[in-house]
Amino acid sequence: MTTKATPEQVKRASELRQLLAAHNRQYYELDEPVIPDTEYDRLFQELVALERDVPELAVTDSPTRRVGGAVGSGFAEIVHGAPMLSLDNAFSDQDVIEFDRRVRERLGREAVVYSAEPKLDGVAISLSYEHGLLVRAATRGDGAVGEDVTHNVRTINSVPLKLRGRRIPERMEVRGEVYMPREGFLALNRRAEQSGDKLFANPRNAAAGSLRQLDPLVAARRPLEMFAYGTGLVTGGELPERHSETLRRLAEWGLPIYSGVAVLSGADACLQYYHELSARRHALPFDIDGVVYKVDDYSGQQVLGFVARAPRWAIAHKFPAEERLSRVEAIDFQVGRTGALTPVARLSPVFVGGATVSNATLHNFSDLHRKDVRVGDTVVVRRAGDVIPEIASVVLERRPAGTSEVAVPVTCPVCGSEVVQADGQVIVRCSGGLVCPAQRKQALCHFASRRAMDISGLGDQLIEQLVDSGLVRTADDLYGLDSARLSALERMGQRSAEKLIAAIARSRKTTLARFLYALGIPEVGDATSRLLASYFGTLEKLAAASEDQLQAIPDIGPVMSAGIAAFFRQRDNRTIIGKLREAGVSWDDLPVPDHSNQSLHGQSFVLTGTLAGMSRDEAKAKIESLGGKVSSSVSSRTTYLVCGEDPGSKLARAVSLGVQVLDEQALLALLR
Ligand code: IVH
Repeated sequence: MTTKATPEQVKRASELRQLLAAHNRQYYELDEPVIPDTEYDRLFQELVALERDVPELAVTDSPTRRVGGAVGSGFAEIVHGAPMLSLDNAFSDQDVIEFDRRVRERLGREAVVYSAEPKLDGVAISLSYEHGLLVRAATRGDGAVGEDVTHNVRTINSVPLKLRGRRIPERMEVRGEVYMPREGFLALNRRAEQSGDKLFANPRNAAAGSLRQLDPLVAARRPLEMFAYGTGLVTGGELPERHSETLRRLAEWGLPIYSGVAVLSGADACLQYYHELSARRHALPFDIDGVVYKVDDYSGQQVLGFVARAPRWAIAHKFPAEERLSRVEAIDFQVGRTGALTPVARLSPVFVGGATVSNATLHNFSDLHRKDVRVGDTVVVRRAGDVIPEIASVVLERRPAGTSEVAVPVTCPVCGSEVVQADGQVIVRCSGGLVCPAQRKQALCHFASRRAMDISGLGDQLIEQLVDSGLVRTADDLYGLDSARLSALERMGQRSAEKLIAAIARSRKTTLARFLYALGIPEVGDATSRLLASYFGTLEKLAAASEDQLQAIPDIGPVMSAGIAAFFRQRDNRTIIGKLREAGVSWDDLPVPDHSNQSLHGQSFVLTGTLAGMSRDEAKAKIESLGGKVSSSVSSRTTYLVCGEDPGSKLARAVSLGVQVLDEQALLALLR
């Protein structure tokens, strides 16, 4: 260890400070990180180590002493009652064992009890309650001063506007994390893609971007949630003596607390919690990036105190990277069932999120061009759970000279047909239709899949063989196969051929919903297929329906109805349907319901509280049978909030948005 800095160390420290300051700005102020968190952590740790070894390098404005970014413009400043600190990180089991050793030594205890909780990957928030009422909400900002985002936080359903229960302190800062559940994030990006808006890189950036909206109506439409994990300044009241008890108390007052918080003694138990949660993390509906261990008793926390930016009584045990850097070796184009061309990046293999990744989807050409991914680029590869690996961004600083933008192909890479892009649509398609072997194969895979005709044993590889050998062109050809011809295929024995023929034969008897789904009508998934089947009862009625008739069905919009009507107008499709029925594919027709009264068409309902005379499902079914839509959250587009006994926070939201509120009697009158 040296104490006097060498010129190289001075230079490196200055470089690291500049790099970290630039990345801080990208992350905190622009919500647009350009490197993965793990790269940031690595740079940060390098500077921490340099400053520890050579204290003269630890200048007072070093990024290691700051918590986050500066306060952005457009928001009022809020001075936190107690500073909002950050956490030190542990990257290995050993780091945790050492953390526990330091804590035990400082406290002079043999064993220490910790609270273990998930580290939510969202945005830190401080909620100020006065006499139980939410008066302010602020982001962390630089840790001392944050941004006033009260207008947006009020629209988050899980944040109570009023606390309930006993012994609520007069003034209290509740600290927590605002996050966006993964489902909501994916739906938000799907909507953004359709309307050509900017896509968010991940749920955390989406949550940060939503909180920093100036217009609360925009934030209200974003699926945000909150978990509380502690308190800041508390006056005019007492909290319990342990952190875990405080969490329980916060829950009693109506604040959302993660249900899996554990109170554990010693490092081993903490590590076990970490490894268990790590294995389950992808099954959670939201992203977490590690586990936080906190000394549970406040007296111990007080003895331990703080260092520059973080408490000594807590540590964040990070999960290993789910984002890694890799190089783009090539960009290919895959042709899907409907002819859509998807750019796929071939990567130098990297181990990320528990698997080796060598291909990453780029979704579509607008995604490819927005990210401007080029062959030769260094890219951030991300894998979240069982989601397909994707390229999050390009590290432009590392782009080699002489690269060029990827052009949209003029012809289909599989069949050579012309490639078309409809006006205003992001999707580029091969115009070959069933001429294109790639589209035929995909269509057959879909036809045979479990939720469609459910032909077991007919997988991707076999379909590839069947199409390439010319035995099968369209789905109806499957029903003409015999085991003699099948067993002539490579790797196909007599027995498996017979089993497959039997599975194909069994699939002849099906349901209308499955058959509709199997047809692969653009935009029609299995839920929509069930809806269409129960609405029309017979294929003939559906095939004859006009776009207007289709649009009158709840949950069927203009794009879908146009797609369905166009599908049944196409002669090729009608021919294949005819041949399938001739081959013996059949189902029992359903009784056709009466749809003559659609008095609630175009109206959107949200239900809250308990209704006396019917269940929520019954109410939903009645509203939908009259053409109304029922959704789960109140927005400016909601027509009515139906309010039963003990309504939730939706009522306050509806009132603040000026949505008309109906009681049960008023609903019944409307249904009559
Ligand atoms: S405690 C003084 N607990 O992690 C201790 N933080 O670097 C303050 N975070 O942005 C933090 N989950 O918002 C704590 N269960 C948890 C957390 C958590 C997520 C965030 C926090 C901050 C960062 C700390």
